[in-house]
Amino acid sequence: MSEPASGDAIPQRSPTRRGLVTSVIDGAPVPGGQTLPSTNPARLDEVVGEVSFGDAATFVRAAESAKKAQESWAAIPAPIRGRAIAHIGRLVEDNAEALARLVTAEIGKPYGEALGEVREIVDTCDFFLGEGRRLYGQTVPSEMPDKQLFTFRRPVGTVAVITAGNFPVAVPSWYIVPALLAGNAIVWKPAEYSAVTSAAFHELVVRGGGLPDGVFNVVYADGAGTFGGLERSLEAGLIDKVGFTGSSAVGQEIGALTGRHLQTACLELGGKNPLVITPSADLDLAVEGALFSGFGTAGQRCTSLGTVIVHESVHDQFVTRFNAAVAGAKVGDPAHDVLMGPMLDAKFADRYEEFLGWIQPHQAVQAAYGRITSDNPRDGFIGDPSTGLYYHPVVVDGVRAGDRIFMEETFGPIVGVTSYQSLNEAIELANAPGYGLSSSIYTTDPKDAFTFRDKISAGMVSINNSTSGAEAHLPFGGNGRSGNGSRQSGIWVLDQFTRWQAVNWDYSGRLQKAQMDIAELTPDTNFRL
Ligand code: UN1
Repeated sequence: MSEPASGDAIPQRSPTRRGLVTSVIDGAPVPGGQTLPSTNPARLDEVVGEVSFGDAATFVRAAESAKKAQESWAAIPAPIRGRAIAHIGRLVEDNAEALARLVTAEIGKPYGEALGEVREIVDTCDFFLGEGRRLYGQTVPSEMPDKQLFTFRRPVGTVAVITAGNFPVAVPSWYIVPALLAGNAIVWKPAEYSAVTSAAFHELVVRGGGLPDGVFNVVYADGAGTFGGLERSLEAGLIDKVGFTGSSAVGQEIGALTGRHLQTACLELGGKNPLVITPSADLDLAVEGALFSGFGTAGQRCTSLGTVIVHESVHDQFVTRFNAAVAGAKVGDPAHDVLMGPMLDAKFADRYEEFLGWIQPHQAVQAAYGRITSDNPRDGFIGDPSTGLYYHPVVVDGVRAGDRIFMEETFGPIVGVTSYQSLNEAIELANAPGYGLSSSIYTTDPKDAFTFRDKISAGMVSINNSTSGAEAHLPFGGNGRSGNGSRQSGIWVLDQFTRWQAVNWDYSGRLQKAQMDIAELTPDTNFRL
């Protein structure tokens, strides 16, 4: 693509379809490959859309297209790219309800939460539209005269974004919006089970931003095809940065692969997020926070609550109130005002059933658990449970450090409870699984709050708020098994999608050698008062 002359309209072509969802490369739909239905997890006989899957070769073609388009995109002045982000935000806002309805239909996220998810895209655009007029570099004093030093942010180049489907549009926007703003071109591989929603988001971004062909490509492919395509693209020098949200196991593979190409991926992985309750806590507030973070999105957020770590003096009271709150929570059809809808997809339901198999005889479960059926009913269920992938929310009391439920992420509506005696013990328990994404403490004692903040391994800490619900302009990311220290969102994500360039400009007319040709002042080191 040639560089647009100033004042020219930025070249563009409308992307695709409706109906069949296909990969879009260089602005054109790419049908072919296997076509599979994407179904509604709340009504399994309802097909939300048909999705045509590509393979490793499709991914490589998309990477080639991004590579070809990137230079011209980066040549568009950053404030103009910022305007594109502004328009994307407005178009998403104007289509918020339709997009949220699609989120609800395809992954079963309750509609209120789905609207919140769409809001998170708008928030991200609102934050980055102004960054187009900043993207600040620095002027830095030189140690020599007639010489100036500067720093510039440069786009990394072409970015592969591989995302999960529990946040099919908000989390992708955390990568895609700043990456575009910074002048990168993108290959996006969304989750297979949220492809129809992803296609709608892709179209909103391309149309809203008036993006030139090839700047933002989308590829639908399975895990093996994606990994193979990524490997080949990296070998061919087509991808300069990888952003990945998903499991710790796949994150390790991606980290190893990118490491071999001297790249550091931006990894947002799983969590076993602890919520500590101290004796001084407002217990009702803690119950509310545990309920939302444990069972919102049916426990399928990476920030979902894993284990409640409650002081032994308030353990029984907490468990009684928490069990009552869980029993009274609204579960059912996600089109209604419910706390919890179905599992995202059959794959997650199957895996969740395995997690339920980890419950041990020494642990206590007060209520029914497993799939909600007419034989295993839930009081007050909204809708017909037999139509979808509905599970009972379950609280497992008496978990011990070292139990599998305590140590591993259990994506789904299950929360463990354990107790402690001293705050140090609580923090040790909170850090023990080795993840480090989000965490929470309920306390009215500032000393406890700050000790926890200081010693917890997590990248995110809530005080008197739940483990989930991070705002879109704070650094988001984890440590240990939750990530490699990369951070998304806010100004911090710019370091993922740009590289610093250091410039020195010598206008003295002679070679001035750093560290050698420098003036020295003479200190009077013997002076004493
Ligand atoms: C995720 O589950 O990958 O803080 C992200 C939250 C949401 C984002 C979760 N804003 O729970």
